[in-house]
Formats: sequence, structure tokens, C-alpha cells
Amino acid sequence: MLLSIASDLESVRRRTLELVADLSDADLERRLHPLMGPLVWDLGHVAAFEDLWLVHRYGDRPLLRADLAAAYDAFETPRPLRESVEILDRAGANRYLDDVRARTLEVLEERGPHPELHEMVLRHELQHTETMQQARRLGGFDAPRPGATSGTGLELVAVPGGTVEIGAAADGFAYDNERPRHRRDLASFRLGRTPVTNATWLTFTEGGGYVRREWWSDEGWAWKQDHDITHHRGAQEGDPAAPACHLSWFEAEAFANAHAMRLPTEAEWEHAASAAAELGLAALGSVWEWTASEFGGYPGFVAHPYREYSEVFFDRGYRVLRGGSCATHPRVAGATFRNWDLPQRRQLFAGLRLAADA
Ligand code: AVJ
Ligand code: FE
Repeated sequence: MLLSIASDLESVRRRTLELVADLSDADLERRLHPLMGPLVWDLGHVAAFEDLWLVHRYGDRPLLRADLAAAYDAFETPRPLRESVEILDRAGANRYLDDVRARTLEVLEERGPHPELHEMVLRHELQHTETMQQARRLGGFDAPRPGATSGTGLELVAVPGGTVEIGAAADGFAYDNERPRHRRDLASFRLGRTPVTNATWLTFTEGGGYVRREWWSDEGWAWKQDHDITHHRGAQEGDPAAPACHLSWFEAEAFANAHAMRLPTEAEWEHAASAAAELGLAALGSVWEWTASEFGGYPGFVAHPYREYSEVFFDRGYRVLRGGSCATHPRVAGATFRNWDLPQRRQLFAGLRLAADA
């Protein structure tokens, strides 16, 4: 157990460092896109998070660098400010990572594995490897692409409804927002066998997808007009048989409207995903799938272990994504995992799977 946690920590770290190995100091230390912080911030942030939870809280030691706590707190220092505050440079961030890791291993040796904090810290770093891939894509560096699938995204399978249970069971590791597990009544519905592909996205664009006002919500139309969005470059240039990726929720919604369909709710998605094999669903985990649901707490939600992981994002217009992408480590995204972002965001490895009433 002890050994496997230590070696997991090490292999996750290898994945993180591989994502910056090909970057010059200048590219590592600048913002690759106005939406993202510099990648060197992620390195320091991952170290600070590990030190906070695995050394300070679990090991009862003072923080290694209390002076850096605010700069590396995601909430106190949101992305646009991450270049203006004093943060460590490449050499400093690498040293901080190594120094924290030595302390982590010392505490692990002394106290053994914590029932959830080591897993939380591992997954935290893995989640950052995905945001780092987003930054790489936006900056024009290599980043993963979803592979070709066998459908167009327009073929639907029938999913029987009923009273279903969603959310994570009370035991085992899960994020607070996945609990408590609870019942939902679902009508029967239909769901795309695969996500919508780039080729299918092109037929939407060519059919007036970005021109037909009636397919867009008021907010979606305003976003599209404000940013002069007339097409989706990634869908145009990508493999026609691969899922469309880096779509915003607004675009996904307009696409579904154009087909007189809708996005699945997250309860529908989770119910269907739990029977993916019998239903014949394909390409799960190739792109995050936008759902119709706004991010909020399940009935009886309790924040744990800190409010800023989920609760501060509830009921603020964030939309839920499900499933995971080609940039997601499998350890991060299970059937109950909820991801979220704002409806205008296009940096996620996100596409859509259509849904319709039965
Ligand atoms: C679950 C991906 C929305 O990036 O804001 C990283 C994950 N939380 N550090 C995010 C997270 C704290 C989170 N998402
Ligand atoms: Fe974080």
C-alpha cells in the first residue's frame, strides 16, 4: 500500500513533467493563452497543494513555503492574475516540487497512507495534467486528439427509464459533489451511440449552424456575435471521423436544437453509462460530453474536505460535463465523476452526444 502510493505519486509526477519537457523557459513561464495561467504556475500549485494536504494537514508540519500560499491558491489567484503575482521560475518550481515530495514521503513513512488524502492529491495533479494539455493546445503545442469512431453521432440507441440511482456510494474515494447517491425517476429516452463527429459538425456549419438565430439561446447568440464566431476551426481541420472537440456548451446546444434534439441530463448520462456495454454506446472517454445540467449540489450535499473544490461553483451557471477525454487519465473520470465549466468555454476537450425523448 505504502509502496504503491509512493510509486503512483512518482508516475503521476512523470506525466506532469513530460508535459513541460519540450518547452523553453520562456514558453513555460508565459501565459500560452489569455484564458490560462503560465504552465510554471501549475507546477508550483501542484507542489503547494501536496504540501498543504499531505504534509501540513496530514503530517502536522508547518507549510514549506507559507509565503507562496496565496500565489498558488487557485481561488485567491485566478488565472488572469497568475502572471502578475510573484511565482517561482522553472528552477524554483522544480526544486519546490522535489522538496515537498521528500516531505510527503517522510510523512507517508511515518503515518502510512491516509484513507483519502493521498488519492485526492494524486487526482488533483492528474486533473492539472489535463488543464496543462488545454494550455498546450491553445499555445499551438502538441496535445492529444480523440481517435476516429464508428458513427456520425446521429445514430441513437433507446435507453429504458425507471427509478435509477446516481452518485457515488458512501464508501471509497469520491469527490464531495458526487455524493450522496440518490434516486431519480427517468423517463425512457434516446442517446447518441457515439459523440458527434467533425464531419457531422461540418454539415451543421454548412447548413447555417452559425447563422440560424432560431437554433441558439439568447446567451449563446450573444456570445457568438460578441466573438465573431462563424465556424469551428478544429472541427474543420480535424479527422472527419473523430468526435468534434473543443466545442462550447452554447455550440453543443445549438447543434442539438438544429436536429430538434437536446443534450442529455447528467442523470440520463450516468444511467446510460452504467449500462454502456448492453446499450452499445461507443467512444466514451474520447471527449468530455456536455450535459444539459447546471452544476449544483445533490440533495443532502456536504462540502468535503474543502468548500473551494466544488461548492463555490454551485448554481453559478456552470454546466456539467461527463465521461472524460483523450487528455484525461482514467483514474480521474469514473461513471459518477462530474466535471464543470462555463457554457462559453472552448478550451476543454469537450464535444457532445445527442439525446432525445423516447
Ligand atoms: C474539476 C476540472 C473543474 O480545474 O477547476 C483542479 C479541478 N480543482 N484544482 C478545475 C481542480 C482544483 C477542476 N475541475
Ligand atoms: Fe488545483
